Amino acid sequence: MSDLSTIRREALGAVEQAADLAALDAARVAALGKKGSVTGLMKTLGDLSPEQRREFGAQVNQLKAEIEGALEARKSALSASALAARLASEKIDVTLPVRPEAQGSLHPIGQAMDEVAAIFGEMGFTWADGPDIEDDWHNFSALNIPPDHPARQMQDTFYLPPRADGTPMVLRTHTSPVQARTMLDKGVQKMLADGGSLRIIVPGRTFRIDNDATHTPMFHQVEGLVIDRTTHMGHLKGCLVDFCRAFFEVDDLPLRFRPSYFPFTEPSAEVDIGCSWKDGELRIGAGDSWLEILGSGMVHPNVIANCGLDPAIYQGFAFGMGIDRIAMLKYGIPDLRSFFDSDLRWLRHYGFSALEWPSLTGGLGR
Ligand code: PHE
Repeated sequence: MSDLSTIRREALGAVEQAADLAALDAARVAALGKKGSVTGLMKTLGDLSPEQRREFGAQVNQLKAEIEGALEARKSALSASALAARLASEKIDVTLPVRPEAQGSLHPIGQAMDEVAAIFGEMGFTWADGPDIEDDWHNFSALNIPPDHPARQMQDTFYLPPRADGTPMVLRTHTSPVQARTMLDKGVQKMLADGGSLRIIVPGRTFRIDNDATHTPMFHQVEGLVIDRTTHMGHLKGCLVDFCRAFFEVDDLPLRFRPSYFPFTEPSAEVDIGCSWKDGELRIGAGDSWLEILGSGMVHPNVIANCGLDPAIYQGFAFGMGIDRIAMLKYGIPDLRSFFDSDLRWLRHYGFSALEWPSLTGGLGR
């Protein structure tokens, strides 16, 4: 009997004191294992009289059950505290400031496009686009540049293999083919017939065989087109004056409209903005010098007719300018080629926050 109570005390004490699951298993083996203390008691049963065996056997069985219960209870206590310890140690402090993350920035060309779109958007223009790979007809013929026209030589064209049906293909040399694509659109023609006014800008990629500090084989233009029954040269002037003043953020920026020639406009004008040079640095604004920034004119009646509209009814203006060029001028970027080097240090210096959307009221540039 004293054996029994000693074994009981020791076994339950070991279970109670087990600090982890390994110690708990050791306590189990010490009591209930093959050579365990309780197993040892079981082995003594054979030496007892049947009467003693029944009584003592019952006590040993009860002890065994008691130890098993204690093992079970200790096991769940240990896993509960292990979980509690883990929860406490893995606690996340949500009040910590966020770790600074690598931040991208917008390329100045994308920024300039967004600024151009913000300004013309306020004047009621919508953004249109067309394919970079263009057929000869949209790039040239529709725009009053027939196959033998000398203007074809002026635009150093990348020619592509003809389409399967024999159509000559080019990389578009300007965004002007989208003028034709838009005027030919049935929905646009209906809108015009209903008395509406077409106003689009077409920012996009353009291509010419050219490569130096101010020319790259791929560059960007934005086309503008307004067509309705009444738009005249005065509107062209007012629109471009407002645009240039808003874009360059110079309220009294002088503009000069110089007579020029484009096959698809008549009359045509190139537009210069006032500037001055001081210590080799360019300042945009009233000064003693001029910078050419765009081509423009009243859409030629042949173009309107080529696009399925009656030039006796419809008229309007168009313009085209180099986005890279106006971005270089506005943001003081000296070499056009740097736009396309994909140098992250350059982009960090000249890039724009993606979270500051340009708007006329909220600020255009930075
Ligand atoms: N497409 C002309 C160019 O690339 C620019 C232009 C567009 C001129 C529209 C007049 C009207 O040089």
